[in-house]
Amino acid sequence: MKPSMVIVYVIAMAIVVGGEIRIRGRVRKRFTSHRRHRAVLPPCNFNETIINDEWSLMEAIGKSKYIFTGKVLNVKKFRSEDETTKKKSNLYTVYLRRLLKGNISELRMFVKLEGSEDTLSGSTLMVERPRARESCAPAPRPRLSAIFLSDGTYADMGRGPTPRLRILTDPVPLTLYHLDRVNAAVKAFHPRSPGEAHVPSRNVESLGLSRPYLGAGDT
Ligand SMILES: *[C@@H]1O[C@H](CO)[C@@H](O)[C@H](O)[C@H]1NC(C)=O
Ligand SMILES: *[C@@H]1O[C@H](CO)[C@@H](O)[C@H](O)[C@H]1NC(C)=O
Repeated sequence: MKPSMVIVYVIAMAIVVGGEIRIRGRVRKRFTSHRRHRAVLPPCNFNETIINDEWSLMEAIGKSKYIFTGKVLNVKKFRSEDETTKKKSNLYTVYLRRLLKGNISELRMFVKLEGSEDTLSGSTLMVERPRARESCAPAPRPRLSAIFLSDGTYADMGRGPTPRLRILTDPVPLTLYHLDRVNAAVKAFHPRSPGEAHVPSRNVESLGLSRPYLGAGDT
């Protein structure tokens, strides 16, 4: 190639590549401003790694002081006081069903006692998932049931409703498969600690398993 041809070639490539970048930039800008609108956010997909990866699961179970099933009554994004990350939380109002791990007497101070005195079933409580993903709508949506893993600490006390429990992971959608995995891990962790409610996972009615999930992870 003659040197002048090389220059022409380089200029042509610069124009083509530059145009490509400009177009992508424009597309991206339109996409993000579109996504900023709340109503069109896609729901967050549950990241199954926490359930499927043995280490992640055992780590989460080990850190959890309370593990319980419950139905989401309400969920909203919430700007917490976390100055370091500036990230939003998801704030869930939960209708408590069954405690899978933890001391009922101690959990009692976090709930509004409208349900059973003995089991706390039917009580409502607030839980906060700090550093929630922001590019998608909080999940699970209201009316769906989930397994909640909490380290038992009060969420940030600065503002917002109190008391509220901090949860360690996104709520785990309540399927038979997820419940089996969590129950098995809880048992592996605490082989024979007394006073813990190990719920037979087939007892779906008492756990409030959502109808759409029935059969999803069964067998
Ligand atoms: C799911 O979680 C694991 C760790 O818990 C992480 O490494 C992985 O990137 C996550 N996957 C997605 C799609 O976010
Ligand atoms: C639960 O906690 C209460 C209060 O801290 C304590 O008195 C009780 O012994 C605990 N129960 C179990 C089964 O650990």
